[in-house]
Amino acid sequence: MSKPVEIAPVRGSLGILLVGLGAVSTTTIAGVFAIRKGLAKPIGSLTQMGTLRLGKRTEGRSPKISDVVPLAGLDDIVFGGWDIFEEDCYAAAKTAGVLEPALLEQLRPELEKIRPWPAVFDQRYVKRLDGPNVKKGKNKKDLADQVVADIRKFKADNNLDRMVMVWCGSTEIFAVESPAHASIAAFEAALEQDDPAIPSSMIYAYAAISEGIPYANAAPNLTADIPALVELAANTQSPLAGKDLKTGQTLIKTIIAPGLKARLLGVEGWYSTNILGNRDGEVLDDPESFKTKEESKKSVLDYILQPQLYPDLYEDLCHVVRINYYPPRGDNKEGWDNIDLVGWLGYPMQLKINFLCRDSILAAPIVLDVALFMDLAKRAGMHGVQEWLSFYFKSPVHAPDLYPEHDLFIQLMKLKNTLRFFAGEDLITHLGREYYD
Ligand SMILES: NC(=O)c1ccc[n+]([C@@H]2O[C@H](COP(=O)([O-])OP(=O)(O)OC[C@H]3O[C@@H](n4cnc5c(N)ncnc54)[C@H](O)[C@@H]3O)[C@@H](O)[C@H]2O)c1
Repeated sequence: MSKPVEIAPVRGSLGILLVGLGAVSTTTIAGVFAIRKGLAKPIGSLTQMGTLRLGKRTEGRSPKISDVVPLAGLDDIVFGGWDIFEEDCYAAAKTAGVLEPALLEQLRPELEKIRPWPAVFDQRYVKRLDGPNVKKGKNKKDLADQVVADIRKFKADNNLDRMVMVWCGSTEIFAVESPAHASIAAFEAALEQDDPAIPSSMIYAYAAISEGIPYANAAPNLTADIPALVELAANTQSPLAGKDLKTGQTLIKTIIAPGLKARLLGVEGWYSTNILGNRDGEVLDDPESFKTKEESKKSVLDYILQPQLYPDLYEDLCHVVRINYYPPRGDNKEGWDNIDLVGWLGYPMQLKINFLCRDSILAAPIVLDVALFMDLAKRAGMHGVQEWLSFYFKSPVHAPDLYPEHDLFIQLMKLKNTLRFFAGEDLITHLGREYYD
């Protein structure tokens, strides 16, 4: 046992700021309200249902995670957010069509109270969207100041102790790092000059991080993962996490691929296709937004299978990812995977996976967990990239000289060991020799 990390206690309320009140956000908010009322269970959430083995297997100690580290309780959460549409959270949840109308009806009064603040939005970055609830400003710095004002007002109006921000807005077009992103000085000058290298998402991230608020990115676009905002996060002691929630097909991919590699089975091809009919699917129908998503989804196999170490097994792997916008399906995505495997002596085999999933049902518990763990990280004095939260993301943000860890099981071990570290408990190595000595 080592000394526990000093963690500020949970006091008062936690504000969760959601950028974009669409399918994922409204399913998260309505879900938390339903769970608070005892109408449903927080299935899929590690912070609410997960346990943590402590000590040796013979000790039989497996408390709930929430009993090991101090996490904000669901009753102490207040939600706020921005959207380009004026609909309140009840109407937005109805539009998203994820949750049953009968459930939403029971939550209606609380949901109707959440009305989105006007958004920072520029259609250049999300081509398939347009809406009326948008801020006007003299330049991007002015827009960032307006977001800061929204955040401070939300804090004062609700007497909040702490806040976290999660970007749940639409996927913006593909962008690469540019000189405007290189340092906070360059970034602030670019804000004043309305530089096109700064999309809307970075304006929110800048506002949150300047206030010392943890920032997580649920979408794949380039946002806080630039040197300027990492520098700012170090100055303001803000934790960062992202990006692109690992749900649906990629979740399954990062469950199956480590297993195939563990048994040294070769993979010649992995063809993944999806049909999806929600607004996210519509946005991703634009090739520039799809490119952002594609990059995020495709990198996973390269890192898990390590073709540079196993050229005979994975060097020529053909990995194809498609998303097809198909409105009749709404949020109920269907994914197909065809995996062409190679076994002993080069004999071919095939594995087919057909996942009929619900996108936002898989995403909501992750948004909740990420928000609560980011708040924990902040209270524990951690700042910058929170690699231990890679578990939740398709493209985990990482230090520039490291490769990201994509294997779900390694990610879970890292997350749980980080919690043991916080609590001053022994890390678990799974060596286990002592049981046989
Ligand atoms: N559902 C999943 O399983 C999943 C998984 C990984 C990532 N994501 C990502 O999460 C994001 C949200 O997904 P969703 O299904 O809720 O999509 P959605 O289209 O239902 O919701 C996104 C919302 O963001 C709003 N928005 C867009 N730009 C904005 C801006 N600049 N400011 C404020 N609001 C803005 C839109 O109006 C919309 O209401 C998407 O980027 C998606 O790719 C979702």
